[in-house]
Amino acid sequence: MKAFDYVFTKRFLESTMEHIEDISYIDLFRDYSRVAISSPKDYKDAIHYFSHFAMRVLESKDLTEENFADQRKKLIEQCSTIRRFLKPSNIVQQETFGDIASKFAKKLRCKSVLDVGAGEVPHSSIVIAEKIDDVTAFDRYKFLLSKESLENMGVKARVGEYFTRNTNVSGVDIIVGRYPCTAIEEIVRIASKRNKPYFIEHCNCGIPFKKDKNGHIVGWKEILTDIDKNIVVDEKYAYNMDISKKQFDKVVSKFTCVEPQMGLGLIAALRTSEKEM
Ligand SMILES: C[S@@+](CC[C@H](N)C(=O)[O-])C[C@H]1O[C@@H](n2cnc3c(N)ncnc32)[C@H](O)[C@@H]1O
Repeated sequence: MKAFDYVFTKRFLESTMEHIEDISYIDLFRDYSRVAISSPKDYKDAIHYFSHFAMRVLESKDLTEENFADQRKKLIEQCSTIRRFLKPSNIVQQETFGDIASKFAKKLRCKSVLDVGAGEVPHSSIVIAEKIDDVTAFDRYKFLLSKESLENMGVKARVGEYFTRNTNVSGVDIIVGRYPCTAIEEIVRIASKRNKPYFIEHCNCGIPFKKDKNGHIVGWKEILTDIDKNIVVDEKYAYNMDISKKQFDKVVSKFTCVEPQMGLGLIAALRTSEKEM
């Protein structure tokens, strides 16, 4: 029996009818990652296996009985959450960011990376950890993967903390983040103050509503330049790294020429060929 079937069955049998509502599919996924991921090479297989398992749960006849109606509803909701974070298009975008961020971290000789707003499954941190020894995934929420499985992939987890201008970033050489929402301004503020490089893929959801003196709504470029005069903000990224525009474009274009819908296979092929160069 595969590790996951074992964990699921054990939990299921251990639950009495009074406690059946305590089964959490999300906890179960965390348990599964603890037993299934002992090194980075297990990661993709574990995700595929769990996704198939999720489909089986959704179609499960055992849970269609009247008694299990509420439980089934809850499992379906949780199952959809997990499947959303394991969706190939979501993974590809985060991995692409991780590839670019690790390339910059290497170029700048950074030994320690803090990945802020890493998301429920910190795919970008996992990719960065393939190239950089000291990687911390930071998020205000707990990750869906267990702390142990992340450690097995070289990623330290720092969760349950809101990133603010007072966050302790000592020992961190570069701060990165893909769509870190409310942390964007704070990353720029803290990193520029401490003289640390940062690399952010910005998102519109975190943009504060501000107007200039003429009453026009201002974007990230104006807001972030007010905080750090040395920042470069384009339509996708904000950074202050000591890297020429030419070097920047070269790295970014290398990884962003592949459309997400072209799938994981191509990205994997690209990343393999890059390692061989
Ligand atoms: C839009 S998601 C992006 C997740 C992932 N990086 C990605 O690219 O899919 C934003 C994440 O940032 C986290 N986040 C937002 N503001 C934060 C803050 N101030 N401190 C810590 N985490 C924050 C949220 O909990 C969420 O997981």
